[in-house]
Amino acid sequence: MMAKMTGSPSVTPLSPPSPSPPSPSSLPLRAIPGGYGWPVVGPIIDRLNYFWFQGPPTFFKKRMEKYKSTVFRTNVPPTFPWFLGVNPNVIAVLDVKSFSHLFDMEIVEKANVLVGDFMPSVKYTGDFRVCAYLDTSEAKHTQIKNFSLDILKRSSTIWVPSLISSLDSMWDKIDADVANSGSASSFLPMQQFLFRFLTRCIVGADPSTSPEIASSGHIMLDKWLGIQILPTVNIGILQPLEELFLHSFSYPFWLVKGDYNKLVQFVEKEGKEVIQRAQTEFNLTEQEAIHNLLFILGFNAFGGFTIFFLALLSAIGDQKSTGLHEKLRDEVRQKSGSNSNTLSFESVKDMELVQSFVYETLRLNPPVPSQFARARKDFKLTSHDAVYEIKKGELLCGYQPLVMKDAKVFEESPATFLYDRFTREKGGTELLNYLYWSNGPQTGSATAANKQCAAKEIVPLTAALFVAYLFQRYDDITISSGSITAVEKSK
Ligand code: HEM
Repeated sequence: MMAKMTGSPSVTPLSPPSPSPPSPSSLPLRAIPGGYGWPVVGPIIDRLNYFWFQGPPTFFKKRMEKYKSTVFRTNVPPTFPWFLGVNPNVIAVLDVKSFSHLFDMEIVEKANVLVGDFMPSVKYTGDFRVCAYLDTSEAKHTQIKNFSLDILKRSSTIWVPSLISSLDSMWDKIDADVANSGSASSFLPMQQFLFRFLTRCIVGADPSTSPEIASSGHIMLDKWLGIQILPTVNIGILQPLEELFLHSFSYPFWLVKGDYNKLVQFVEKEGKEVIQRAQTEFNLTEQEAIHNLLFILGFNAFGGFTIFFLALLSAIGDQKSTGLHEKLRDEVRQKSGSNSNTLSFESVKDMELVQSFVYETLRLNPPVPSQFARARKDFKLTSHDAVYEIKKGELLCGYQPLVMKDAKVFEESPATFLYDRFTREKGGTELLNYLYWSNGPQTGSATAANKQCAAKEIVPLTAALFVAYLFQRYDDITISSGSITAVEKSK
């Protein structure tokens, strides 16, 4: 059972490095503390605290302290008034051990629970339940998951050259902006770079074949993505307008229908080869292939990388005074020289510090902070210090920003950014068993039998290439609040 909890048989069984935990049988059985409050009122109060008065990190932390437990009952948004069909009751799991139950597909199921009990309308995805909404027991999940793994395998030969050429354009634009006006925002060039690079690798299509898609494809994806998940997103600056207008109801698909249809037409026309493969090798229909491709491109890849790479740039900026830049630059140039055509998956695998920095960014800034799963049957859930009874149908909610600070696992200053935490010298390889950004451990394998991100391997490698490219191109860089204010080009 413990080996299964990590989602893959190849993974080290879940037992925090030290001190070794008591075996589940020796842990006390405890009633799950917390509660859901009065009907309607309880969920509304929790929602206001979650979005407005506390914000998600404080919301979970305060309850953890109040109940003296990393496992407790609470409500999470969206809730009343216009989410009548959505049940906000969850059981929060906030330590590494209890969180890992989310990966055991024998005891949990993931049908329609990507963002808790709330699911955006399937109108946003061509009336299909795309891969992310399917449980592993559904045959369609196997077909589409294998299709997504195949896309990554086949595109691995063009992945690095496409990344580098798109990075060249991104940083040329940033250099020009810094030279002209003294600073450059990273957001827009980053989104354009990601859209170009990911469309090439995932759809096999060059956006420049359609002027409108080339200039606005990234904005079309932003709107389509943002509007469907708005009821679950904390912006935190517009209250009380945010509660009234963004978190009280779902926005209809027709607001972004025109743009979405343009993206569909583009994929249909330019992604013929990959669509054909979906049909012949994975038995999907043309329409299933198109809408799943768009979800993988827009939601999984473009959405995930946008958040992650902004966090990566921000961490590079924040860590400047620690001497990180010099160390990264030395490692990159020692291993791969100063020319970007020497960069490859193999070369960055050899850059221990670059990789550790990437993992530490994923630990403290997981791009998808919350993960959910529903109990497939009654089972006993174990935390570090107690056992709890979970009933079939109950929804588990893990909030990674707290889980990834579990002091029993990340023992050394768990809340501090230590860029060399994952190096061999610090036992970093062992810690990868507990790095969960991909809805599974970093040492696990994404397969059709689990719900781990298909790009679990390639995401950190791509981030390592992004960092290596940066420190080949520049001797130093200054980044603050998403703006690049100075670049010192490598001589
Ligand atoms: C930084 C970028 C990315 C992040 C942060 C990310 C994160 C995640 C997470 C957290 C999940 C699990 C969601 C859940 O069920 O709770 C997931 C699932 C998935 N991701 Fe990624 N992802 C990224 C990039 C990609 C890319 C490039 C692909 C391209 C193939 C991809 C394909 C998928 C697929 C197909 C699933 C669904 C897996 C399943 O249903 O079994 N992801 N991703």
